[in-house]
Amino acid sequence: MYYPEEIIEEVRQRNDIVEVISSYVRLQKRGANHMGLCPFHNEKSPSFSVSAAKQMYYCFGCGKGGNVFTFLMEYENETFGEAVKALADRAGIHLPEQEYDAEAKKRAGLRSRLLEVNKEAATYYFYQLRSEKGRAAMEYLKGRALSNETIREFGLGFSSQNSKELYRYLKSKGYEDELLRQSGLMTFDEARGVYDKFWNRVMFPIFDTNSRVIGFGGRVMGDGSPKYLNSPETAVFDKSRNLYGLHRARLSREKYMLVCEGYMDVISLHQAGFTNAVASLGTAFTGLQANLLKRYTGEVVLTYDSDAAGIKAALRAIPMMKEAGITTKVLNMKPYKDPDEFIKALGAEAFRERIREAQNSFYFEISVLEQDYDMQDPESKTKFFQAVARRLLVFADDLERNTYIEAVASRYFIPAEQLRSLVNRLGAGYVNVLPEQAGYTGWEERRERASKKKQTAEEGLKQSQRLLLTWLIERPELFDKLKGVVDENDILEPLYHQAAALLFQEYRETGAVNPARLLSQFESKEEQTEVAALFHTLPTEEELDEKAQEKAFNETIRRIKKMSLEEAAKKASEQGNMERFGKIIQEQARWQKLYISWE
Ligand code: GTP
Ligand code: MN
Repeated sequence: MYYPEEIIEEVRQRNDIVEVISSYVRLQKRGANHMGLCPFHNEKSPSFSVSAAKQMYYCFGCGKGGNVFTFLMEYENETFGEAVKALADRAGIHLPEQEYDAEAKKRAGLRSRLLEVNKEAATYYFYQLRSEKGRAAMEYLKGRALSNETIREFGLGFSSQNSKELYRYLKSKGYEDELLRQSGLMTFDEARGVYDKFWNRVMFPIFDTNSRVIGFGGRVMGDGSPKYLNSPETAVFDKSRNLYGLHRARLSREKYMLVCEGYMDVISLHQAGFTNAVASLGTAFTGLQANLLKRYTGEVVLTYDSDAAGIKAALRAIPMMKEAGITTKVLNMKPYKDPDEFIKALGAEAFRERIREAQNSFYFEISVLEQDYDMQDPESKTKFFQAVARRLLVFADDLERNTYIEAVASRYFIPAEQLRSLVNRLGAGYVNVLPEQAGYTGWEERRERASKKKQTAEEGLKQSQRLLLTWLIERPELFDKLKGVVDENDILEPLYHQAAALLFQEYRETGAVNPARLLSQFESKEEQTEVAALFHTLPTEEELDEKAQEKAFNETIRRIKKMSLEEAAKKASEQGNMERFGKIIQEQARWQKLYISWE
């Protein structure tokens, strides 16, 4: 850690977590906590809880949690050092100058070192493009009508023909192989050795919202396969929660954002004055990206390609936008393939006109649906209206549903009453239809999340250890009762053990615990999140009464003790220490009858 612990703690104490989080998330007081919609996953009812007393937050839906530093690291995608700096500024605390000696550099988190490598690589590509070797690449970009200014603004570059150049360059700067391997910029191959992942390609650096380079896309010049090569996911590059161009688009003054498919589309749109354009990163649009957009806008115009794949991608993205609380319109690109081609052919004004004419997403969905039916055939036409009625059920709000019923009816020249009764008939029996029941796809993410929750045996033991730590911070009086029975040495899971050791030690020294301070001792947000979860574990049945909780507590410590003794017995027998082994066996029998009363 760069800063002295006391200073970090002062910064933490001077930034009330409820105040800080309130400037990002709307919170409402509920009992002892403040609740709101979790900014880290899609949800409709609040499971994100912020505790003023504990100075921690925790989402019971997705398990993200931590202290005020973790929140900034998570939300703004910052390193620990950056979060400390931002909050010190907020509280008017002057931080001592950091000493970037070799030792400190080594200790800096993997993430910040990867960001540094990416920045070096981007700079390198940038100069390659401007060198003699990069002439063909520059001509290619000019041939695609990009101005010098645009090329500079997006930091475009070139990776040269020699497939070891970047590697050599970064080695000369002193970066070690392991870090380079984790950057995804090199391939380490037993037979062929090390070589650059990108060579002879036009390079598009990918920035996060704070304008830090997190990865690259590389395009062949002209025809060739694969057309685009993207960095693999790394500790700093998560394709599902970043968007190409967002670092610039977030500064645009438009009320809406344009979401398109390709990097070149984003760049041409910005050059044509549409500085509110973003694209996903070579993968399908995700719910997390919708959440990310919602921070900056409530309205999106989809400008996907006009081909079948583009239509399919739009149909997938619409419900995700809706779930994030974004209204979506779909732009008609015909007869051109994508925004880049459209603008080249018809210019910015014509594109602006298309934005004005963009179709509401619901109409877009039903006009796509319509193509599956023969509207001249009465039977097929009836089936179409039934399908439309099912879609209309998605609108949970009566007023909104009725508005759409009227609009659809007038569009297809049928009486609104007729459509309404069809909707009501289909809707009878289930209130609040899930979009998937209405025929939407794209819910894989959700199902995946649910199935991950299935517990394995190992997960069960971890759960017991988490439960114990949660109880201890909720009821510090239990520390005294556990004296001589259970302590940090019974918590085996390495990270949990580390947290438990800090907790027990603090209680021994001060007679109290401060979990939010403890979190600052972990530098990565992944660790902070995991440790925060240790303090927010609930017994499976949340509403246990006091007596039942006491019972669950005892089951939990017996389980922990059993595992820790088994582990100790194994060790003793491996070491051939039979005396110790015998003692442990005796202890095991004793602990099985253990019961600690809460009275
Ligand atoms: P240009 O031909 O340069 O105009 O490309 P584009 O911007 O029109 O992109 P396109 O619609 O062909 O593809 C959209 C996005 O999908 C690109 O920005 C890439 O992120 C990704 N993509 C395209 N081709 C490939 C490929 O061959 N491999 C991978 N991994 N991604 C690709
Ligand atoms: Mn294109």
